[in-house]
Amino acid sequence: MKFIDQIDLSGKKLLIRVDYNVPIKDGVIADDNRIRASLPTVQHALEQGAALILCAHLGKPKGQVKPEFSLAPVAKHLGELLSRPVKMAPDCIGDEVKAMVADLKPGEVLMLENLRFHPEEQAGDDAFGRQLAELCDVYCNDAFGTAHRAHASMTGIPAHAKEKCAGFLLKKEWEFLGESLADPKRPYVAISGGSKVSSKLGILNKLLEKVDSLIIGGAMANTFLLAQGVGVGASLVEKDLVDEAKRVMHTAEERGVKLVLPLDFVLGEGPDAAAAVKTVDAADGIDDGLMALDVGPKTVALYREVLQGAKTVVWNGPVGAFENPAFAEGSMELTKIVAGLADAMTIGGGGDTGSCLKMAGLADKMTFISTGGGSFMEFMEGKDLPAFTALKE
Ligand code: 3PG
Repeated sequence: MKFIDQIDLSGKKLLIRVDYNVPIKDGVIADDNRIRASLPTVQHALEQGAALILCAHLGKPKGQVKPEFSLAPVAKHLGELLSRPVKMAPDCIGDEVKAMVADLKPGEVLMLENLRFHPEEQAGDDAFGRQLAELCDVYCNDAFGTAHRAHASMTGIPAHAKEKCAGFLLKKEWEFLGESLADPKRPYVAISGGSKVSSKLGILNKLLEKVDSLIIGGAMANTFLLAQGVGVGASLVEKDLVDEAKRVMHTAEERGVKLVLPLDFVLGEGPDAAAAVKTVDAADGIDDGLMALDVGPKTVALYREVLQGAKTVVWNGPVGAFENPAFAEGSMELTKIVAGLADAMTIGGGGDTGSCLKMAGLADKMTFISTGGGSFMEFMEGKDLPAFTALKE
């Protein structure tokens, strides 16, 4: 795989596929992490004298032009971050776009409109990929968050581009999630939270091959407790995955991996409830009609013990309904423990983990936070991601 700093960009039209799929509320970008994460590549290209074309998707407009999914607010925000104008194209292909690209000078930036306004993007349509490739001399992929999608902008453009390379963000994600975790410093602790075992089975099984301890929290822990015969009340649970949970527990035991489940819970009537009802020991089970919505102080103490001295930590998914202050304490305490580890490589992944760290004001204390959600999971599962495959071909 070639990287962007191995290619002469001077005077070239460079098309960068970025992941600018950011949350936008009432035209305001609620979290610009992904845009900021692309800046090293964008700035490098501009310094090298490229004329820059950016392409991306936003949301799920399902192949239709929907103004609420326009990338215009993103172009405006990028312009502010770069302190230079970012032109906005009315589409991503077609004659008007071709004319704008032809006029584009070195040092100028053009943002193409949402790729997913065309159904061909998600269909991975080859001709659509070729039309985009024809806009540029060099294609660069820096969209790690979309690396697991075999869409036209990920696989079709590199198949037709004259030259292709990976950007600095793709490189950084590869180095942290791939190279540094291939031979991790020990003890290696993984924390897996969030709501569903079903979406995490792949990553759990992969982590069990590598880690010394595996902390399971969030609603997915309920399925494991049910597998141990503990009553889970009205908590979120995947009854059909109880056997899988048993298998994970068995594999952990066979491999000598310490599996850490919650010792106590903060209960409430629902994730939006104004206040918690009570804290109970996991062994006593969860009352009928109530839900486990956070871990309690005994669990936090256990987390501190397990994580003490860890040299590598990978964290994916919060351990409670942290968006509600009534159920945020367990996840907030966990962020403090992880972010406070001395001499450890600490990696966070998945949107909720990033939000949790931001809420605690500790995001900058982590070694690395992946910009990927689904792509982070698939990469960690050891799957070949289409973006990387296409760049290597
Ligand atoms: C993401 O936000 O995870 C990526 O941008 C991919 O978006 P998608 O899940 O809509 O394909």
